[in-house]
Amino acid sequence: MLPDVPDFDIYAIDHLPEKLIVAEQRLIITWDDGKISHYPFVWLREYSPDAGTFNDITREQNIAVTDLPDKLNISSTEIGADGSVIVNWQPENLDSRYHPGWLRAHCPSNPKPNFELPKRTLWTATRTAASQTFPPTFSGAQIDTDKEFSEWLGALHSSGVAVITDLPIEPEALEKVVDRIGPIRTSNFGRIFDVELKAETNSNAYTSQPLRAHTDLATREYQPGLQFFFCMENSVSGGETILTDGLAVAEKIRTDHPEEYAFLTEQPIPFVNTDRDSEYRYEVPILETDHHGDITTVRFTYWLRAPMTGDLATLDNLYSALRLFHHYADHEDYQLRFPLKPGDLIGVDNRRVLHGRTGFAPDAGHRWLRGCYMEREELESRLRVLDRQRRIRSA
Ligand SMILES: [Fe+2]
Repeated sequence: MLPDVPDFDIYAIDHLPEKLIVAEQRLIITWDDGKISHYPFVWLREYSPDAGTFNDITREQNIAVTDLPDKLNISSTEIGADGSVIVNWQPENLDSRYHPGWLRAHCPSNPKPNFELPKRTLWTATRTAASQTFPPTFSGAQIDTDKEFSEWLGALHSSGVAVITDLPIEPEALEKVVDRIGPIRTSNFGRIFDVELKAETNSNAYTSQPLRAHTDLATREYQPGLQFFFCMENSVSGGETILTDGLAVAEKIRTDHPEEYAFLTEQPIPFVNTDRDSEYRYEVPILETDHHGDITTVRFTYWLRAPMTGDLATLDNLYSALRLFHHYADHEDYQLRFPLKPGDLIGVDNRRVLHGRTGFAPDAGHRWLRGCYMEREELESRLRVLDRQRRIRSA
């Protein structure tokens, strides 16, 4: 029987090890396709699937690196009949058997993961005009299958927006779909919020006024990664949904306006959201980047900016950078506009894609959307698990 692996995945054995060499504190495997993988001793020892190192129920490590001997050595190596790699560790005298598919997938210098998240693709209104299927749209009648559901989630990850149409027009329809992804993130607006006209309101969202393209909850340290809207009713005149790819806007500014881009990525901007019994504040640049310089978060709830303080030159720069961002975010070349129909559910990456609406006449018809937040990592986790389950089923 093949050895256990330190996770819940399965690993195809596309290639077998042909030769094992121990040199310079590494195990070097030559595979049957000529590829060579180097595994540092401490790395290999840390992932030994034996019961002392790994808990086979949780598939988590029992040890820290400090629990391993300072000076590890391998006294013997062997390739098993099933292709497993067997080494004897000294001074512990521990025999470890490694799954060849797992070793190959996790080769430190040339990993080949079982699954990778769909790549992000930027979009603009101009670029999507030729496509009949943008935003990516799926039928509520087919979304029950894991395959269609995965495709919808993949489209949401890739484009930052994806739609399901023709769901049952009932208040529970939103939760029935999003509960299949992961836990909803509650906020001071509730676990599920109803976006409709409210006389006593704590947000511009609950009025009939137009809302320019924006993200939600910029005042939170961790701005929600996803937002879902489900349309229960939309019989008003106006109230079209607006979407802009904030990442496409940011990349345009990076290319054409480097000074403003530097300002937007480096200058902390204060945001505030006050209510009768809450007051959220956070100060951060409008565009956040990771260690590669890639944009991870667009933060643009424009009506929740707190009064800026600081030198006047910085204020001048702020206002010109904001105007520039609005210029593209509200420009028809970047913006999609379409009416939501009852039964439509739209998922949006709230740290990337800006949403808004045109104004509507408040006294004729009714516009009622149900909404909720979730984190991006729930979507990513669900995509990985659905793909893993698909591979396990077809193995
Ligand atoms: Fe919003």
